[in-house]
Amino acid sequence: MNIIDALNWRYAVREFSSDVIAPAQVQQLLEATRLSASSYGLQPYHVLVIQSPQLKQQLVGFSLGQEKVAQCSHLMVFAAHTNIGDATVNRYIKQFSQTRGVSAAQLANMDEHYKAALAVMDAAQRQQWAHQQVYIALGNFLTCAALMKIDTCPMTGIEFDGYDRVLGLREKNLTTTAVCPIGIRHPHDASAREKKVRFAEHDMVTLL
Ligand SMILES: Cc1cc2nc3c(=O)[nH]c(=O)nc-3n(C[C@H](O)[C@H](O)[C@H](O)COP(=O)(O)O)c2cc1C
Repeated sequence: MNIIDALNWRYAVREFSSDVIAPAQVQQLLEATRLSASSYGLQPYHVLVIQSPQLKQQLVGFSLGQEKVAQCSHLMVFAAHTNIGDATVNRYIKQFSQTRGVSAAQLANMDEHYKAALAVMDAAQRQQWAHQQVYIALGNFLTCAALMKIDTCPMTGIEFDGYDRVLGLREKNLTTTAVCPIGIRHPHDASAREKKVRFAEHDMVTLL
């Protein structure tokens, strides 16, 4: 599908049908997400894929009553790392070294530079930086889902602490950034037929 057609086709789904997305499609969408860009390439995030009907139902209680969290095929929870700092860089350097066959010693400058970049931020800024990286992955996820004709609804209308508690995220040095139910739109979901509300290009773009 043409990219503009795909982005016009997608919308924030209010009501999902009971259709289930095939595992291979979910896998492809996660792979597309894994390939997202991130600051310094550090990828300070994790995605939880929730299929369990019981767990999804439990999370409705922390989603301001948004039933789509339970109706959907899979509920994606996009979580940011909480232990941002040297450990974030060490993890990446190890991966870089293995992937490109370069010794850790050869990556000393990169290691120092990246650690210094994170060290100038205070704890709140580092957490915000991690959430920003999650949003890039989420945006990529939404666009790729649209191209695959998988319906989505990005959501932050949730109780973040509740999600963290139910999913045991804090113990894993993670915290919820946003969630995204995926599936197939319900034929009765009237939002599908509503016009997109977007500012004109001249309000958003300046050519210099
Ligand atoms: C970060 C973020 C959080 C959102 N949270 C919710 C939400 O909790 N519930 C919901 O129904 N829609 C949510 N939305 C969907 C937006 O309302 C929707 O994307 C926007 O109105 C534009 O409409 P469209 O996506 O249908 O084109 C969220 C979107 C984003 C990007």
